[in-house]
Amino acid sequence: GLDIVRSVAELRARVKYWRDQGLTIALVPTMGALHQGHLSLVAKALEHADRVVASVFVNPTQFGPNEDFARYPRQEEQDAALLDQAGCHLLFAPTVAEMYPDGFATTVSVSGVSEGLCGAVRPGHFAGVATVVTKLLLQALPDVAVFGEKDYQQLAVIRRFARDLDIPAAIIGAPTLREADGLAMSSRNAYLTAEERAVAPWLLKGLTGVADGLMAGAKASDMCPMAVSGLLKAGFSSVDYVEVRDAASLAPVEVMAAPVRILAAARLGKTRLIDNIEAIPV
Ligand code: PAJ
Repeated sequence: GLDIVRSVAELRARVKYWRDQGLTIALVPTMGALHQGHLSLVAKALEHADRVVASVFVNPTQFGPNEDFARYPRQEEQDAALLDQAGCHLLFAPTVAEMYPDGFATTVSVSGVSEGLCGAVRPGHFAGVATVVTKLLLQALPDVAVFGEKDYQQLAVIRRFARDLDIPAAIIGAPTLREADGLAMSSRNAYLTAEERAVAPWLLKGLTGVADGLMAGAKASDMCPMAVSGLLKAGFSSVDYVEVRDAASLAPVEVMAAPVRILAAARLGKTRLIDNIEAIPV
């Protein structure tokens, strides 16, 4: 069954025990409230390594002062049962004091890819993510770590600092799992009222509308404002952004000539949803 450890020392001891047997290790960082999207990362991790460590840690440093840190769903027993069923070997569930002991003073901040998109709306968010993921990678020292494309800018930030800091783990991206109506699975979907839940799938429809336009040769600067109006008309309370970026560099794109990523963030009441899709020139 699945074992749970809460200290870095216990995590390192478990990983060393596996290393001594010549086994390879994968890490799947999460904030818990696990859904099938998270579990698909565990499945991917099992394809790449002999042993899979998942972490569940609601990381305070990546939440802004007016964000949902306090009300973020916490359900460790259910998460542990789901991880066990998915074939995960170890759950690392540290306390805030274990991750950020008194006197903690270091931040990993990534320029370039952290700027714009969610970085513009959530100042300090990606520094919080980069700091905690750096710590998790150094704590577990896995061969591979798996992250979802659902958080596409986050994945780009992680790839950047892992390379820049010579962190010896391969960073693997995994596709976004969706509900039947297209809504990207997210722990935050639990916040939605029935009415908001009915509007939520329009986020993906907005993205596919932009993709269709780009494939037909339209400009991003024409398509994105149309998508923003469409989302507001569909019932979103506000739209943080709809943008087209180069799939690899995240540089802004006006007319599609190479694979792009179309990314959006929008709010339904108090809940902020993000999504993104790929578009490839024909
Ligand atoms: P969290 O939102 O819990 O997501 C954990 C991982 O699951 C991330 O890599 C995310 O991209 C992936 N994920 C979420 N929804 C997904 C979906 N529908 N399909 C596929 N993958 C999905 O992202 C974080 O936590 C945190 O920022 C973290 C990286 C753990 C650092 O605190």
